[in-house]
Amino acid sequence: MGVTAKIAPSMLSSDFANLASEAQRMLDCGADWLHMDIMDGYNLNYRLLHKPFILNHCKLMAYLDCHLMVTNPLDYVEPLGKAGASGFTFHVEVSRDNWGELVQRIKSKGMRPGVSLKPGTPIEEVYPLVEGEHPVEMVLVMTVEPGFGGQKFMPETMDKVRALRKKYPSLDIEVDGGLGPSTIDMAASAGANCIVAGSSVFGAPDSAQVISLMRKSVEEVQKNY
Ligand code: DX5
Ligand code: ZN
Repeated sequence: MGVTAKIAPSMLSSDFANLASEAQRMLDCGADWLHMDIMDGYNLNYRLLHKPFILNHCKLMAYLDCHLMVTNPLDYVEPLGKAGASGFTFHVEVSRDNWGELVQRIKSKGMRPGVSLKPGTPIEEVYPLVEGEHPVEMVLVMTVEPGFGGQKFMPETMDKVRALRKKYPSLDIEVDGGLGPSTIDMAASAGANCIVAGSSVFGAPDSAQVISLMRKSVEEVQKNY
């Protein structure tokens, strides 16, 4: 069974003063999901946490793909559930002791659980979460160190994507960091189907064209699976 392409512009690169219209613009440009980065200790944390509230308020019918770069993701399950988040992706590095409980809580709030890992974390760490009694439904392979947009894509992380795709043909595999027209083919051919892109989409003169190009790259590879 194949997986479908999901292109997720990262709202971290958007104009925060016009969040709702930026989100609508991305949807009009063909985005499937809106990627929301939520971080601890970030001076825009308040705003970032409230992005889903804002979007919800504006009645945007969008899949909100939330990426939690926080030390205690459990604290965010309730507020994000209420805010209308669709996907809740936590980091394995901070959830080694409680991922089972976390996944169940995320599901109980009607969100889709995902797990992410940093470039230095071995891929084997996420296998139990994909195969567990309460499995995650997506793995997000970080292709830069988490923290901010505009960093350089790390090609060496593609070994992890390849290993995952080989083991789990129908799993949603997301990549995040440094994705754009010059790196999408590497990610797509390794097997990634959910593509987060911030600066390459928001910084492009024609965002729709970049989204469409990335979608085609994923679809081209996926039709051969
Ligand atoms: C990085 C964030 C990303 C970031 C991606 O820590 O998780 O979602 O916004 O930005 P680009 O696509 O510019 O690397
Ligand atoms: Zn992210």
